[in-house]
Amino acid sequence: MNASTMAARPNSLAARDGAYHFHGYTNALKNEQEGGFVVVRGDGPFVYTEEGKEYFDGLSGLWCCSLGFGPQPRLVEAAKKQMETLPFYHTFTQKVAAPVVELAEKLVQLAPVPMSKAYFCNSGSEANDTAVKMIWYLNNALGRPQKKKIIARVKAYHGVTVAAASLTGLPALHNDFDLPIAGILRTDCPHYYRFGEAGESEEAFATRCADNLERLILAEGPETIAAFFAEPVQGAGGVVIPAKTYWEKITAILKKYDVLLVADEVICGFGRTGNWWGTQTFGLQPDIITTAKQLSAGQLPIAAILINQRVFEALRDNSNKHGGFAHGLTYSGHPVASAVALETLKIYEDLRIVDHVRSIAPHFAREMDAFSDHPLVGEVRKVGLVGAIELVKDKKTHASFDPKLAVGPTLVKFAHEHGLIVRPVIDSLCFCPPMVSTEAQLTDMFGRFGRALKDTHDWLKREGHVA
Ligand SMILES: Cc1ncc(COP(=O)(O)O)c(C=O)c1O
Repeated sequence: MNASTMAARPNSLAARDGAYHFHGYTNALKNEQEGGFVVVRGDGPFVYTEEGKEYFDGLSGLWCCSLGFGPQPRLVEAAKKQMETLPFYHTFTQKVAAPVVELAEKLVQLAPVPMSKAYFCNSGSEANDTAVKMIWYLNNALGRPQKKKIIARVKAYHGVTVAAASLTGLPALHNDFDLPIAGILRTDCPHYYRFGEAGESEEAFATRCADNLERLILAEGPETIAAFFAEPVQGAGGVVIPAKTYWEKITAILKKYDVLLVADEVICGFGRTGNWWGTQTFGLQPDIITTAKQLSAGQLPIAAILINQRVFEALRDNSNKHGGFAHGLTYSGHPVASAVALETLKIYEDLRIVDHVRSIAPHFAREMDAFSDHPLVGEVRKVGLVGAIELVKDKKTHASFDPKLAVGPTLVKFAHEHGLIVRPVIDSLCFCPPMVSTEAQLTDMFGRFGRALKDTHDWLKREGHVA
């Protein structure tokens, strides 16, 4: 809505949103002046506004609505049944509600590597902050209080709470927030297309990333390095798929210096990359896994941390020494969210969701690859049902457009006019459609994108930025 439409409709939800609501990840002034984009209902991959306009949400909301936006009767029933039986209980002082027990058991059974226990939170950020605290607590318990530093990567996204935002390798999350906190170290983003050097092979680039990691560990002192946090595919950094051989080389370094690996599976978990876990797609060997989003199909807030036996034993023995693990959230293991997560996992199994993703991924890939020859498209990257198309000024040199031109955000505006919601990470447009999408729906989504790409190209030509 623009300012004059908003003034004409002061009682619309959009105008009231502008008046009363301060959003995250939003220009607050613009929202106050223009009002919010209010969504009132969903159906499959589509969401609908107050005025009834339809949008294909190409990012499943925030990489989470795996089953789409329509009501899921089985999840409605699971939530209703739990709310009618026991709407709240907590997990402090050895207490727990029944579905939480079942969910912990199910997640440990589903884990891609042997895991011992599940711990619950409400968001990916909380899960990562909690994982950091577990790691600090563990190294104190093991008598190595100096082993506390944590390494994360350029372009990583681990969330917004104090430790998670510090791990995140995107400057916007640090500017004016007085972050990162001390003890967070940064290493390479494994994006060959962007960071590979002229004449360097993909494997040589992966070796350079691993060598740089080893150099960093040695420079800081291995006895000070506790953990390495990483997403199997960097999502909010622009769907960065690691260079070939990256993970086997990184794993060897982490093992050599006894550095724990935390796999942040908040986007990748539960089928997104064509396996239950990104860990399986890319051959990670994590000690800790954090997960959220698709765990409940995005329908209720819940996150889980999976820890292996070695990690658990150190936490267990220290908690025994102190008389308890002095960390927990009122809603850790909320029974309604847990019942919904448990039912979501059953739906995934009934739908054979991993098989479905694998069967539809080639169509997703074909649709994306069809843009490769477009003059603005530098790189098309994808795995399973997640991907990005990166726009460049020069296909040969990979040179990006001047960020001031806001090419990615401008494409998003054109896409909006064509009824498509797509996420820009600078000039990379990210796609993460519901995992239950059909081929016809994916063709529809990329059709809308193609029209927006044409508008963007026409605009850049008109303005004289490309030939
Ligand atoms: C990989 C990853 N980790 C952590 C988070 C943070 O999760 P939340 O927004 O639930 O706090 C996100 C959110 O997008 C994410 O993509």
